Amino acid sequence: MTEKIVELLKKKDNYISGEEISSKLKVTRQAIWKYIQELRELGYDIVAVPHLGYKLISSPDLLIPQEISTNLETNFIGKKIYYFESISSTMDLALKLGAEAEEEGAIVVAETQTKGRGRLGRHWISAKHKGIYFSLLLRPRIAPANVAILTLLIAVSAVEAIKESVGVEVNIKWPNDLLIGLKKIGGILTEINAETDLVHFIVIGLGLNVNNDDKSLVAHATSLKEYKKETINRVSLFQRMLSVIEDNYLHFQKEGFEFVIKKWLAYNATIGKRIKIESNLKHIEGEAVGIDSDGGLLVRSDSGLMQKVMAGDVTYCR
Ligand code: BTN
Repeated sequence: MTEKIVELLKKKDNYISGEEISSKLKVTRQAIWKYIQELRELGYDIVAVPHLGYKLISSPDLLIPQEISTNLETNFIGKKIYYFESISSTMDLALKLGAEAEEEGAIVVAETQTKGRGRLGRHWISAKHKGIYFSLLLRPRIAPANVAILTLLIAVSAVEAIKESVGVEVNIKWPNDLLIGLKKIGGILTEINAETDLVHFIVIGLGLNVNNDDKSLVAHATSLKEYKKETINRVSLFQRMLSVIEDNYLHFQKEGFEFVIKKWLAYNATIGKRIKIESNLKHIEGEAVGIDSDGGLLVRSDSGLMQKVMAGDVTYCR
């Protein structure tokens, strides 16, 4: 209900009467007063004037459903939002929801995580109210071996949303590190629930440093705020991201892998570089020459041997 009230308040530049809200939402005026108090506690500045009604002065930059849902331009991504001030990891709940038959497109978002995780068993630091940390539940009809393509799709979507919403050019280091120059601003983690040849569901988690301050960032990392020297509106950026993900996902379903690969190639900064890669206890060094249709990285070693790598950590060589 609070979401609907925020939507009505946002539509009006001026006051909206309690009576109008009450008839539009079919709840009593006393109930509306109670919801307005709840919204104020969340950080909404709402003035109430007798005989005039309510007026929204400002909204908090919190990733709460009331904010995300208002004017969200998607049909299924983010239509169901599980929001937490703090959670162990958004991945844990999203995996549980997947197993409980929650619908495709549901998201779990948190202001901070106590056990945020990254790829290869790493810890992901989630400074409170600073970044965007969420997991998305998808039920694609693809084979488990092809899941990597969806990780690339989310990386591509993040790049496009950041460009559109904040005007910053981000590049992708294979497979899915989001970088500004050589500094990391985000990463993506995909976990799947599948049988040998059937995906039940996948959960894709994205962590993005948005308003994180230098001192809370690990070495070789940056944030959009550090780069732009201004505070970024997380809500608008997140809404854009959900829209772009939905658009790209629908295109991928119609057009297939090629659609994702083409975009990924346009935004990546790995192909053409000399790299080292640690993967499954293997150490490979050579030139990154391309990406396979399933998202694997093709590396040509100095001896001319071509190898395909499906997971690992890339380091650029000078
Ligand atoms: C990486 O770069 O290693 C991937 C980092 C992924 C972090 C995100 S934050 C939201 C979601 N919840 C987690 O515990 N991890 C992912």
